[in-house]
Amino acid sequence: MQRIRIKKLLSEGIAGQDISVCGWVRTKRESKGIAFIALNDGSTQDTLQLVIPETSPAFQKLSQCNTGAAIRAAGVLKESPAKGQRFEVEVVSEIEVFGDADPATYPLQKKGHTLEFMREIGHLRPRTNTFGAVLRVRNILAEAVHEFFQDRGFIWVHTPIITASDCEGAGDLFTVTTLDLEKLPKGNGSVDFSQDFFGRRAFLTVSGQLEGEFLAMALGDVYTFGPTFRAENSNTSRHLSEFWMIEPEIAFANLRDDMELAGDFFRFLCERVLEKCESEIAFLEKFYKNTSIAELKTLSEKSFVHISYSDAIKELERAKEKFEFPVKWGLDLQSEHERYLTDKVYNGPVIVTDYPQEIKAFYMRLNDDGKTVAAMDVLVPKIGEIIGGSQREERLDVLTERMRESGIPFENMAWYLDLRRYGSAPHAGFGLGFERLVQYITGMQNIRDVIPCPRAPQTIKF
Ligand code: 4AD
Ligand code: MG
Repeated sequence: MQRIRIKKLLSEGIAGQDISVCGWVRTKRESKGIAFIALNDGSTQDTLQLVIPETSPAFQKLSQCNTGAAIRAAGVLKESPAKGQRFEVEVVSEIEVFGDADPATYPLQKKGHTLEFMREIGHLRPRTNTFGAVLRVRNILAEAVHEFFQDRGFIWVHTPIITASDCEGAGDLFTVTTLDLEKLPKGNGSVDFSQDFFGRRAFLTVSGQLEGEFLAMALGDVYTFGPTFRAENSNTSRHLSEFWMIEPEIAFANLRDDMELAGDFFRFLCERVLEKCESEIAFLEKFYKNTSIAELKTLSEKSFVHISYSDAIKELERAKEKFEFPVKWGLDLQSEHERYLTDKVYNGPVIVTDYPQEIKAFYMRLNDDGKTVAAMDVLVPKIGEIIGGSQREERLDVLTERMRESGIPFENMAWYLDLRRYGSAPHAGFGLGFERLVQYITGMQNIRDVIPCPRAPQTIKF
């Protein structure tokens, strides 16, 4: 008989139906000649109760059905008399044990483990309720990303992972090379990358934006969704060295359009999670209390509060709170400042715009005041920045000047200036950090707990 997934069985099953299910044993208990197994197959938060009467041949296999064992069970679907579950399965025939798990050594026993401990066993943690929930929410969010943009006529473009440009100009790049590290070719005192695989120095991308821009200048509205890499030495609960980013780029658009898109996008994502992952969120709400169905509902309906950088500075200067880092017009907002705005002043997401040009990337459009740029950051409680975006500088002369000031190497960026030379148009876009989004929605406090294989300084497993 074909295996049926537990999610499907619980939603579409019919009492009396013969079924076959596969999964991993969560718990097993015996009482008065009947055994009960709680089975989970990863398709849903719920476990399926298998009821095994003493008379069933399956009863003989119980000693191999320990927590963690992989089994197949066949039986009859029954309305469950127990509270909180619709169906159970009476196992009348065999249980097939694919692989037992020794209770003396299997690390995931019944009682709750700390998230730190689970990080040590990253290959087994997806079997827990917590990580199952997070990974299913992650999946629904990824699906919703495509749904949102496809419904609006955006074209999904695939920008490269290996690139020759540093989009953010911050120098946090991983080099991609096939040079012999023991014998690096030298010329003029530095490494001669002309002898490297690509004939010049190449990197893992920090952002698909620059390539996204030339695609938007041809296809109109595009988006990327892929892995990005940053060699920042930031050992925090919100930084990864490898993370996924969603980057829409919209043609014939300004910062207002960009902000509106970001807001609609964010609300849509919250709505989809509520619609498709209610039991996952309910679980995370109950056990970790950093997310809730009610909160997501509010988020899915509420517009972002909007404040300019200059007003944010005034707000921070008025604060009674003592900050570790100085607050002054021209200085970047530190996470304590961002958190003050989101957690203390507005109690929700805030969109901050029009930052001083000195603290933002070279491609952002200079405002008429000659001091600020058309930038926006979306800040959320507890995490801080989840979206960074801007209107792009489309004027050739202004961009050239700005690149000169910022020391951006022209020889590598001629193509970028071409976009301003031939058929230039106003355009804007943003990047949403996918893991920060999953973190915010699930309420997980450490970003390493929302991606299967976290990469961070001094941290690489598998
Ligand atoms: O603000 P960032 O650096 O913006 C860009 O890369 C632009 N090129 C995006 C664009 O306009 N197309 O990064 C965007 C977002 C941040 O707001 C944050 O959510 C996430 O990417 N992010 C990180 N997430 C996890 N770990 C890190 N080390 C991150 N760095 C940035
Ligand atoms: Mg940013």
